[in-house]
Amino acid sequence: MSYKEELLRLTKEIKQRLLLEKAFGIDFVSKYPPKKISSVVNPPKASPAPEEIKEPPAGYLVSESIKKDDREKKLDELGKVASTCIKCRLSESRTKVVFGVGNPFTELMFIGEGPGYDEDQQGEPFVGKAGQLLTKIIEAMKFNRQIVYITNMVKCRPPENRTPRQDEMFICFENYLKWQIEWIKPKIICALGNCAAQFLLNTKESISSLRGRFHDYNAIKLMPTFHPAYLLRNPQDKSKCWHDMKKIMKEMGQG
Ligand code: URA
Repeated sequence: MSYKEELLRLTKEIKQRLLLEKAFGIDFVSKYPPKKISSVVNPPKASPAPEEIKEPPAGYLVSESIKKDDREKKLDELGKVASTCIKCRLSESRTKVVFGVGNPFTELMFIGEGPGYDEDQQGEPFVGKAGQLLTKIIEAMKFNRQIVYITNMVKCRPPENRTPRQDEMFICFENYLKWQIEWIKPKIICALGNCAAQFLLNTKESISSLRGRFHDYNAIKLMPTFHPAYLLRNPQDKSKCWHDMKKIMKEMGQG
């Protein structure tokens, strides 16, 4: 590839990246080039490495329009409340409450079932084996964990990784998930597995019959798909999940 072709390719990639970030509600321009690009184009020697910067300049991380919206603060506060929650029996055996991670201004939210061993230890959703697969799926969609929001139906690990009970999901939904959805107001929710899909859609239909098309959740498009833990056990169904993800990408202008 000639120097000119490489430059054109990079310009196209940067343009796509900016459009993508805009689609996720990030309307500031990052001071640092994405890793992939910086490995091709050497940054000027004088520019400091991100880790050397102690405090970002004002307005760097959060645009003026976003600052007017206090959802980040509200989510932080709710996360603090959740961290000491004893509203249901799951609190008795948990190590850490797993509230949610990602961009509060995102247009795409993933909702799983509940924390497993690794999540309970680390306090972050989808970091174990199933989480690694979810991260790969998100990256295959050309997104990443920082620009989507990831959470679960219940914020505490059910003992022995059993399925969360209806009352546990109800309490957790009423106190936390309902508000996370309401404040983030994503354009699309991806419900991972039976638990999340059935609860949010108030149905007993199985994930196999629900997946593959958008449903309505309070005027938000909800795409049910297979849970990554199921896909680890049934890799032959990964293509069906990918089909669902492509529908999400298309809806977000990434198709
Ligand atoms: N499975 C889930 O449903 N959620 C997690 O956070 C991890 C595994």
